[in-house]
Amino acid sequence: MGKKVTVVGAGFYGTTTAQRLAEFDVFETVVLTDIVDGKPAGVALDLNQSRPIEGFETKVVGVTTGPNGEGYEAIEGSDVVVITAGLPRKPGMSRMDLLGTNAKIVRQVAENVAKYAPNAVVIVVSNPLDEMTALAQIATGFPRNRVLGQAGVLDTARFTNFVAEELGVPVKSVKTLTLGSHGDTMVPVPSHCTVDGKPLSDVMSADKIEELVVRTRNGGAEVVALLKTGSAYYAPSAAAARMAKAVAQDSGEVIPVCAWVDGEFGISGVYLGVLAEIDATGVRKVVETKLTDAELGSLKAAAEAVRAKQADVASM
Ligand SMILES: NC(=O)c1ccc[n+]([C@@H]2O[C@H](COP(=O)([O-])OP(=O)(O)OC[C@H]3O[C@@H](n4cnc5c(N)ncnc54)[C@H](O)[C@@H]3O)[C@@H](O)[C@H]2O)c1
Repeated sequence: MGKKVTVVGAGFYGTTTAQRLAEFDVFETVVLTDIVDGKPAGVALDLNQSRPIEGFETKVVGVTTGPNGEGYEAIEGSDVVVITAGLPRKPGMSRMDLLGTNAKIVRQVAENVAKYAPNAVVIVVSNPLDEMTALAQIATGFPRNRVLGQAGVLDTARFTNFVAEELGVPVKSVKTLTLGSHGDTMVPVPSHCTVDGKPLSDVMSADKIEELVVRTRNGGAEVVALLKTGSAYYAPSAAAARMAKAVAQDSGEVIPVCAWVDGEFGISGVYLGVLAEIDATGVRKVVETKLTDAELGSLKAAAEAVRAKQADVASM
C-alpha cells in the first residue's frame, strides 16, 4: 500500500504543504481538508492538473469537513496528518494572541483525527506552536512521541539563510541550529553553527551573530509586517513537508522539532524545540545536543515559559 498523508486546513500554509508533498511523489495520496466549502476540492483539482507538467503521480483529494466531523472518513488510513488549521497572525500580533481561537479549532480537528486516523503521526503547525502541539496530544490521546510540532526546521532555515546572505556563501555551506520555543524564548545555538565546517564565531563578529540571532527570533514577525494580510508559508510549508516525508520514509534523520522532552537536558514533562530522530513512529529519540552553559540556561528558561501555557491548554 502506498503512503497517505492528510493536510488539515487549505489556507496558505496547507495548500503549499499539499503541493510540496504531492511534488515529492513519494505518497500515493495527499488529502487536503478545510471547513470552507469547495476550497480543498478546487485546490486538489488544480494540483492534479499540474501532474503532467511537474511529472508526479501522487493523487490529491480535496474534502470539505463539517462541524460534527462530516467528511473526515476521507482521512482514514493516513500515515501522517499535518494540522495547519487556525488563524495566522496579523501585523502587531504575537503568536500567543491566537491561543484561544486556535485552541478550539485544533481540539476539534485533533479529536476527529484520533477517531478517523488512529494510527497516524500528527505534525502540528498551528500557532502558538508549542501549546497547540501539547493540545493536539491531549485531544488525540496519542502516545507523546506520535505528536510533534514544526518550528525548528523553519527557524533553523531562517538563521541559515541570514548567515549565508551576510557572508555571501551558498546556503549549503552553512549549518545552524535553533532550539527552545517557537516564540520569544527561541534559543538559537551559535555553538553548533558552522560555515564550511568552521565555527561561525571564526568568520563572523559576536555583534553580527547576535544581530542575526535577534532577526531569526523575529523572523516570522518580519514577514507578517511585510505581507500585512497573513503570515509566512513558503519556508514553513517546506519545513512541515520535510518532516512528513521523514516520517513516511522512516528515515531516522535528525532534525529540530517540537517534541516531548522527558528527562533530556534535565528538563521533564514539556513539549519543546529539540533535535530528534524522526521515523515512522514519529519521534524515535530526542537527541541531547551538547550545549554551552548559557545555551542550556536559555533552553531551561524556554521550557519553563512554555510549561505553564501548555498546562493551561488542557482545559481549552
Ligand atoms: N509553526 C510554524 O512555523 C508556522 C509558520 C507559519 C504559520 N503558522 C500557523 O499556521 C496556521 C495556518 O496559517 P495559514 O497562513 O495557512 O492561515 P490561513 O488563514 O491562510 O489558513 C487557515 C485555514 O484553516 C482553515 N480552518 C479553520 N478552522 C478549521 C477547521 N476546524 N478544520 C479545518 N480547517 C479549518 C481556514 O478555513 C483556513 O483556510 C496559523 O495558525 C499560523 O499562525 C505556523
